[in-house]
Parts: sequence; C-alpha cells; structure tokens
Amino acid sequence: MVDLKYEDFLDLKYSPSKNDLVALFKVIPENGISIKEAAARVASESSCGSWSNLIKIPKIVENIKGKVFEIKGNFIKVAYNYELFEEGSIPNLLSGIAGNIFGMKAVKNLRLIDVSFPKKYLKDFKGAFYGKDVFKKIFGKKEGPITASVPKPKVGFSHYEHAKIGYLLWKGGIDAIKDDENLSDQKFNRFEKRVKLLAKYKNKAEKETKEIKDAFINVTAPNLKELEKRVKLIRDYGFKYFMIDFVVSGFTTVQTACELAKDYKMAIHGHRAMHATFTRNENHGISMLFLAKLARIVGIDHVHIGTVIGKLESKLEDVIAIKEEITEEKVKEIKNRRLEQNWYGIKPIVPVASGGLHPGILPELFDIYKTTNIVIQVGGGIFGHPLGIERGARAVIQAIEAYKNDISLEEYAKDHKELKVALEIWGRSKPI
Ligand code: 3PG
Ligand code: 3PG
Ligand code: MG
Repeated sequence: MVDLKYEDFLDLKYSPSKNDLVALFKVIPENGISIKEAAARVASESSCGSWSNLIKIPKIVENIKGKVFEIKGNFIKVAYNYELFEEGSIPNLLSGIAGNIFGMKAVKNLRLIDVSFPKKYLKDFKGAFYGKDVFKKIFGKKEGPITASVPKPKVGFSHYEHAKIGYLLWKGGIDAIKDDENLSDQKFNRFEKRVKLLAKYKNKAEKETKEIKDAFINVTAPNLKELEKRVKLIRDYGFKYFMIDFVVSGFTTVQTACELAKDYKMAIHGHRAMHATFTRNENHGISMLFLAKLARIVGIDHVHIGTVIGKLESKLEDVIAIKEEITEEKVKEIKNRRLEQNWYGIKPIVPVASGGLHPGILPELFDIYKTTNIVIQVGGGIFGHPLGIERGARAVIQAIEAYKNDISLEEYAKDHKELKVALEIWGRSKPI
C-alpha cells in the first residue's frame, strides 16, 4: 500500500511555476477541521487524491497533484500543473477545480473566486471571433453602445407579433432585438417561423433606416443537433449573431456553439441565466468573475455582467473587476477578489448591462462602466413607455445622445418628447 495523505497536497514553500494554473478559494472548514486540513482536501479532491491508502501510485502524480502554497485567513491559493487537465476542455477543468470539492463534508462552505491561467493552458483556446470588434465589424460603428431590447412580456407573443415588435424597435433606433432567456421554440412562437419573419422585417428596417440591424435569437436547445440546426438557420437568414443561455446549456454545448460561430463568422451573445444559483453567496459557489473569464476563453463575444443599479443583484466592485477582466489584455490582482491575468492575445469581449434599465439611469450606468463600449438592453424601459414601442426605443437613443454630448437628460428632454415622457414616468428611479 502507498500513502498519499492529505498533507501531501500542502506545500507552503512551493512557488508556482509559469505553467501552473493558480486557483484562489475561500474555505470555511467544518467544525473540528483546521483550515490547513480543509485546504489540503480541496487540493487533493480537485486533483488526484483519495480518502484511502492506494495500492499503486503512478509517477506522474507527484507532478500533477494540486499544491496549496498559500493560506491567509480563510483564503487559500492552490497551484495545478497544466498537465493535470485535458487541453482545451472547460468541462474537464470544471470537473476538477469546481467539482466534488463543493460537497466535501470537511468544508462548511467553499468559494472558487478566480483561476489565473498560464500561457500554456490558454494556447489551446481560440477566444472570440469578433469580441470587441463587433461594434465596427458587425454594426459599422466607431464606438458603442450596442443597443438591444427584449420584448416584454418575456414570452407570450406569437412569432408574428414578435417580428413586428422587432421592426418597431429597429425603426426606433435600436440595433438588435433580443429573445428573452426563456424563449426558444415554444408552440406559440416557433423558432423557425420567428427567424424567417424577423429576417424579412430586418431587411425592411435596414432599408428604411439605412442602419445595420441584427437580432440576438436564442438557440438554446435540447440537444446539440438541434442547436446546430438553429444556428445554421439564423446564419442562412442573414443574421450575424446568435444568443445562447450559456450556463444552463453547459460548456460542452457552449464550446460546440463557439466552433460553429467561428465556422459561420458569427458572434455570440451569452446570457447567464442561472448563474446566481452559484455566484450570489459570497461564501459558496463560483464567482461571476470566473464565469466571465470562461466566457472569454471559449469565445463568447458578449457576456452579461450586471448593472449595479438595475433590478438584479450585482456589486459595484464586482462589476468593475469583471469589466476589466474581460476587456483588458492584462489585469492586476485585487486582494481576495481577483488574481492577476495576462490574456496572451485572447480577444477582449464586450460586457452586457441588462435588467431594469430605462432612459433615466443610462448616464449613471455609463459612468459606472466608465465607457459606452458595452451592450445595453432595455425591456420594460421601452415596453412600458406610454407613447409605444417605437417611440420608447427612441427615448433610449435620445438618452444616449444626451450623454455623449454631455447634456443633462432634463435639458435634452426639453425638445425631445420621447425622453421627456420617459423621465416623467420613471425619472431616475432604480427598479428593485
Ligand atoms: C430581463 O429579462 O431582465 C431582460 O431581458 C431585460 O429586461 P428588463 O429591461 O425589462 O429588465
Ligand atoms: C436579462 O437580460 O434577461 C437580464 O437582464 C439578465 O440579467 P443579467 O444581465 O444581470 O444577467
Ligand atoms: Mg431577460
């Protein structure tokens, strides 16, 4: 029998090599378990350890075992040699560092905060086809924002009503109509019919507005064959984007979708529905920062990262840390929140702010992001506008114009009726 004890996964003198992935965890041990013990079990179970004595241990284990090399309070860092993982496979990565460890009896709570990836690991991923170039290469704009809108109610419109709504939004100045996360191929709004009719109205709107229009149509599907069919249909009907609910779909699906997007030269809008089941509790689960990093690595072009001021929970410091992470080439460590990362040429991607936005709070949103090079999505803030969909869309565009020209919304509203009405009903209120 050979002994590979939990302590063997603890090496506080170890200094990570340039080919190591380094993970930052917050560990809250179960009563009676020391932080050192709990940390060692995290490294063991996430790499190649066992609870029992083993008959035989291959030589490579010494090399690929996780090593806890830092413990500061409840925060620990673990180094993993890149050879522990299959090349280019996010599912394989997650089965280790985001797998069984969350259910171990030795920990009360566990949070995967970040993983810093070495060049050697990143080289097997291609990243996004467009990424930050969507503004120019898809919409022919020098700068953002890209404006999108989501028909409300979320689901319930027929394909016919949906496509007509698209036309009104496009005419009102919006760049893209977006499916809501829970619309896919329901009986009352069949995917294929929606795509075909949207394409017809898109062409009409483009001719009339002389602007480039697109749609984020949701290809989230019950199986890969169906997903491929849906992406191809969208491509054949002239759209440059598709949308996927990337958390519920899982990374095998997402990586397949990313390959398709590259083959078809399409961009992907990544909706994160379900993320909050594991990102929200700061003591347990996986951070949104790490999830957004995965989106960048695999090649999603747009990813939802929160608004701070909208209807869904997101903290200012998190949104800023994530925005930097997905838009910059190198980021610095922020103690207990983010590790340093050099992206070695993996394309920057575009943050999406969505959920509870309306014209009156767009200036504050842009100030938070410190840029307008983002995607903004407005649903209720258009579909609740008393002057109707097209004019509600126009109010959003007017708020953006005011911001870009450094004019207060109130001033701009004096001769922009749609914005005036939006401010009268919503003011600067922050929905909850
Ligand atoms: C959502 O479901 O939150 C969105 O699609 C955005 O809609 P909202 O602007 O109405 O919140
Ligand atoms: C949506 O677009 O459905 C929601 O606004 C999702 O919110 P999120 O951008 O915070 O994920
Ligand atoms: Mg939605």
